[in-house]
Amino acid sequence: MTETPDAYPPSPEFAAAANVDAGVYERAAQDREGFWAEQADHLHWRRRWNQVLDWSEAPVAKWFVGGRLNVAYNCVDRHVLEGRGDKVALHWEGEPGDSRTITYADLLTEVGRAANYLTSLGLTAGDRVAIYMPMIPETIVAMLACARLGLTHSLVFAGFSPTALRQRIDDAEARLVITTDGQWRRGNPAPLKEAVDEALFAHGDVPSSVEHVLVVRRVGIEVAWTEGRDLWWHETVAQTEPAHEAEAFDSEHPLFILYTSGTTGKPKGILHTSGGYLTQTAYTHRVVFDHKPETDIYWCTADVGWVTGHSYIVYGPLANGATQVLYEGTPNFPDEHRHWQIIEKYGVTIYYTAPTLVRTFMKWGRQIPDAHDLSSIRVLGSVGEPINPEAWRWYRDVIGGGTAPIVDTWWQTETGAIMISPLPGITATKPGAAMTPLPGISATVVDEEGNTVRRGETEANGYLVLDEPWPAMLRGIWGDMERYRATYWERFAAQGWYFAGDGAKLDVNGDLWVLGRVDDVMNVSGHRISTAEVESALVGHSGVAEAAVVGATDETTGQGIVAFVILSADATDTGAAMVKELEAEVAREISPIARPREIHVVPELPKTRSGKIMRRLLRDVAEGRELGDTSTLVDPQVFENIRTGRSE
Ligand code: WT7
Repeated sequence: MTETPDAYPPSPEFAAAANVDAGVYERAAQDREGFWAEQADHLHWRRRWNQVLDWSEAPVAKWFVGGRLNVAYNCVDRHVLEGRGDKVALHWEGEPGDSRTITYADLLTEVGRAANYLTSLGLTAGDRVAIYMPMIPETIVAMLACARLGLTHSLVFAGFSPTALRQRIDDAEARLVITTDGQWRRGNPAPLKEAVDEALFAHGDVPSSVEHVLVVRRVGIEVAWTEGRDLWWHETVAQTEPAHEAEAFDSEHPLFILYTSGTTGKPKGILHTSGGYLTQTAYTHRVVFDHKPETDIYWCTADVGWVTGHSYIVYGPLANGATQVLYEGTPNFPDEHRHWQIIEKYGVTIYYTAPTLVRTFMKWGRQIPDAHDLSSIRVLGSVGEPINPEAWRWYRDVIGGGTAPIVDTWWQTETGAIMISPLPGITATKPGAAMTPLPGISATVVDEEGNTVRRGETEANGYLVLDEPWPAMLRGIWGDMERYRATYWERFAAQGWYFAGDGAKLDVNGDLWVLGRVDDVMNVSGHRISTAEVESALVGHSGVAEAAVVGATDETTGQGIVAFVILSADATDTGAAMVKELEAEVAREISPIARPREIHVVPELPKTRSGKIMRRLLRDVAEGRELGDTSTLVDPQVFENIRTGRSE
């Protein structure tokens, strides 16, 4: 692309009423630390910081050094004390059609009860708590109760397998697991506590760090019970006194660990702390969505088990006193109208979702949203993967009434908060571009050697790097600081830059386009899955000798998982049944979201002379392209064999 792409400036009315004006970029650039101090001043600090940033122990940052605050107090108490107790915090929609309205005063009561009860269990600041729950209000209450006590929570997405849960419990040495009896899945109750039992017992009876399992009753199914260990929420937390005084913690006190996929099979426990994280999530929620607490009804459709849910359902919006929608179920239960009905019912003004869902809505047809009054919507958000221009335009026209600005927000579990995004009252947005680092954030696009890629050099795509520390940045990988340095800081060690793992380019105007991962991490429906993780699940099956996995372009999910496997001599079956069995094995071992789209049984895999699998070539095969450079292959003939294997 050499010409300037079409751009959509905000309407003059939107721009005039926006939370920030165009001068903000300049002001932030002139005094970055002063700018962040101003943002931190939107929070309540028990003790003010004496230094904005301490980068002397890079790459581990300290933000708002010496400051003390309580994150839950900022998200709940403050609003009640300032007279906003009756304001609705959550309009919760259950999947079966039940609903609950939870005000900030209600939230304070519930969080207070939970905090008192967790204290009575002997948990103290610094202990880890695993939370394995669906999208219900108690999940947010549990997170806030942990934050209030200085307990470090670790959410595990409720679609993850018992194996994945156990791995995360063990790595964080969690003392408590909070879960539910089950979760609603398209009208049917599916067990969840059962998976916790399996995680805790089924590992050759190796004892875990877990002392108690606290269970919220959600679906009313029978559950197995371990006396002394298991506790019902309604018999304990719900019976506890609500009055609880929040203690302030250091700005750098650990707030949560969230596991994400890296390039090896072992997930990384991304560690986030308190003051800087809350500052940046609240700031970005305020400016990127132009959030107005008095009038907006905000809805982020992510699951709380992912970082988007942490930062843009829980911490950012609640710190800003938002009124938001929380929806438990899938977008097509009982039918494809569900999201639009919810938007109509509550008058949603800000809607934040993922490109994969936009493409799914497109497939279902515009007659579905067209049957609803979506005129309340004034800002649309996108996150998780690059949004293709066609989906972008559809989103703006059909959901945004042809006028709502789209904020395409680039960030990662590691960055903690949005980093690159248009500002809806300022930016002339372009379909598919994340556009500009936010005021206070610095990012650049560089080549292999770290030279800045100039604007308009669109053929010479580069790497996205973050060249200045930011408040919500991760503070490390739990239990493995060496891996932290190696993963993010080694690639451009000389310059001291953070390597994001994404490819990017700058267009002729200098606007930034994120192009997707450049490492062995796949992005399937906005979920991050490493090729190594899926490979290890495959070779864990006795019928598989070797496996190579690639992400291939997929019209709906962004990427689809394509696996090439060599069967072992033990394989009982070599045909379709084996493929089905292997697909099921991956879903069981990791999660249904990791189930391969295709598995090809092949006689051999393409390798370099040093024995490295050439994924690039496998991707060519998976995407049906002409093969790229095969000159470093040991045996170019393998492709003939793979292709013949494939066409069987
Ligand atoms: C990876 C991070 C951040 C919350 C959800 C995913 C990709 C994310 C965008 C975007 C292009 C994007 C990147 C990134 N990504 N947002 N707006 N445009 N790519 O968090 O699981 O940590 O994944 O998602 O590849 O590195 P995550």
